[in-house]
Amino acid sequence: MERIKTGISVIDEITGGFRANRTMLLTGDAGSGKTIFGLHFAINCCDQGLKTVYVTTEEDADDLFTQAKSFNWDLEKFAEEGLISFIELAGIRARLIEAELSIDIDTMKGNFAKILQNIPDDTDVVIIDSLGSYTAKLTPYEFRDRFDHLVYELKEKNITSLVIIDSATSNEFNELALFSVYGAIKLMKRENPYTGRRERVMDVVKMRSTRTPTQFMTYEIDSNGINILSSPEK
Ligand SMILES: Nc1ncnc2c1ncn2[C@@H]1O[C@H](COP(=O)(O)OP(=O)(O)OP(=O)(O)O)[C@@H](O)[C@H]1O
Ligand SMILES: [Mg+2]
Repeated sequence: MERIKTGISVIDEITGGFRANRTMLLTGDAGSGKTIFGLHFAINCCDQGLKTVYVTTEEDADDLFTQAKSFNWDLEKFAEEGLISFIELAGIRARLIEAELSIDIDTMKGNFAKILQNIPDDTDVVIIDSLGSYTAKLTPYEFRDRFDHLVYELKEKNITSLVIIDSATSNEFNELALFSVYGAIKLMKRENPYTGRRERVMDVVKMRSTRTPTQFMTYEIDSNGINILSSPEK
């Protein structure tokens, strides 16, 4: 079974990496490190020579270059080499509103799979950061339907993907997205009952056909990106 390393060493050591041609879901609170996780994966895919598309709905590519630079990751170089390209939906959304185009934004919002119309045929990896911006007014049933369709389309195109959803959106839809994906990771902040201090923890909720840690893993965000501190089952 082909696996793709995430660049987060403990995850790679325990799981072997993400399963190729499948979708992983990443959920987490605001500021929990979802985008940084996405960038870790993106950089690592480029390092392995995989053609990567990063779909960004809240930030533009420049923001991501700046964030990557803070970890000394040269994302711009990979962009110049054509290994990574960006689809900036924040800009498109803003322009649509500005121009009051006849395209019904509500319709566009729910059709996640439409995102894939714009990606090159030779794409190996897609990172969607995040779907939360496109779910307004969907019922849980519609959300599940559209999300499952997106996951299906990605698999049909032999794409390995990381789909990011903020925890507010994920909770709103009763975590329905968890079911159709191959694996899911959750990022959280919680209070450590022993120290009384807040810490960041990662939960590998599921990963089919893979050994996963059952304990929460504490992590920090430092100059190297996401750094897992405790790995109970390493
Ligand atoms: N260079 C850095 N060194 C240390 N910590 C950093 C660095 N850059 C960012 N951070 C930390 O990472 C956090 C943001 O991470 P990130 O943007 O990945 O979160 P997110 O889950 O994507 O948030 P959002 O919900 O806003 O999209 C910041 O709030 C900050 O605490
Ligand atoms: Mg983010």
